[in-house]
Amino acid sequence: MGVTIGRHDVWEEPPAAGNGPDRWNARTDPPRRGVPPPAAAPSGHPGEGLPRQGNCRRDDGRLLAVWGPTGAPGRTTLAIGLAAELAQLGHRTLLVDADTYGPSVAQRLSLMNGSTGLGHALQEAARGTLDVARLRGLAEEALPGLRVLTGVPRPSRWPDTDLPGLRSLWPLTRRSAAWTVVDCGFHLETPAEATGGNGASRRGVATLSTLQEADLVLVVGQADPVGLTRLVRGLSELRALLPPDRPVQVVVNRLRPGAVGSAPERRVALALRRYAGVHDPILVPDDPVAHDRALLRALPLNQVAADSPARQALRSLTDRLTAGRPSEGRPPGPGTRCGSANRRGGRPAPQRARGRRRRWAGAGEARHELILRMVR
Ligand SMILES: Nc1ncnc2c1ncn2[C@@H]1O[C@H](COP(=O)(O)OP(=O)(O)OP(=O)(O)O)[C@@H](O)[C@H]1O
Ligand SMILES: [Mg+2]
Repeated sequence: MGVTIGRHDVWEEPPAAGNGPDRWNARTDPPRRGVPPPAAAPSGHPGEGLPRQGNCRRDDGRLLAVWGPTGAPGRTTLAIGLAAELAQLGHRTLLVDADTYGPSVAQRLSLMNGSTGLGHALQEAARGTLDVARLRGLAEEALPGLRVLTGVPRPSRWPDTDLPGLRSLWPLTRRSAAWTVVDCGFHLETPAEATGGNGASRRGVATLSTLQEADLVLVVGQADPVGLTRLVRGLSELRALLPPDRPVQVVVNRLRPGAVGSAPERRVALALRRYAGVHDPILVPDDPVAHDRALLRALPLNQVAADSPARQALRSLTDRLTAGRPSEGRPPGPGTRCGSANRRGGRPAPQRARGRRRRWAGAGEARHELILRMVR
């Protein structure tokens, strides 16, 4: 029998025998021809010895893809939150908005100068004129240590993202930052599956290219019957696309008993283990108050709700990635309005940075206020 959450049969097919990491594909469509069998879900912490993909140099940074199925499970929220955590630990971080269906990082961080950071970077990369210095110039500084390559300004501008540019871009992002965090679109259609010549496959090329390059793929799903079903199916599709040894970390977002029943942690963990062979999901509680504050102020969670439960979950994810170590280059400072940085004994951040952040926070609210007035 499948798992029932509330009145929903979340997984309608019976689980296969022998659940465990080798059952990653337990409840999925049959494997595609020519695609190697999916690898075991990773155990342990992906940050420990996370292998770099591609032809990377020793001191190149890591590339993290944040992907999740359709239904707004929280890809952008996770990408922004994680990038901000890494920056706060003192790691030079680049956040890239590669979602060609619903780019929103610029608005979420109040970087609304109308430029398309990614589009310009890709044009220059394809022409061979992009280097690390130019890339840094195209990426706007959102917070100390955190630069952002904003996405296409309107979804209709998706043709600005093309494969030759993307292929040249990733080695440069690795050289420009210790961590590159990429907010991907939900679409996973490969060119071979494209039908009707509607350009759907080319539109998803930014996501596919990111997934191919990433050292770690963070897969986010929403903790409700529909979101969990999509997550399990999405993991299966993703595994068919990714190289078999690519580490994947699952994040289940908006965990709440109202949508899955009592003891939601246990229920969700059990279901994922049984039906997707996932053993170590990060569970992020539903936290609408903290997230609304972040939305309104156009700032990451660690800037506006440092002690909130959702932010604490983000911290444990960041600790998994970095093994809890701040960067050696720049000690973390409490000026980012983050209590935990204080607890770590970091030096105070420079006054200048604090002032800048206040200005940004105010600008975010004012800008949102304008948008709210427009839609009233
Ligand atoms: N843990 C959480 N608790 C409460 N609200 C959350 C949480 N995580 C995300 N949200 C909210 O859910 C909404 C959708 O999140 P987000 O925009 O990150 O999703 P997405 O997957 O990027 O969606 P899209 O398909 O639009 O790109 C946002 O309003 C966000 O503030
Ligand atoms: Mg998004």
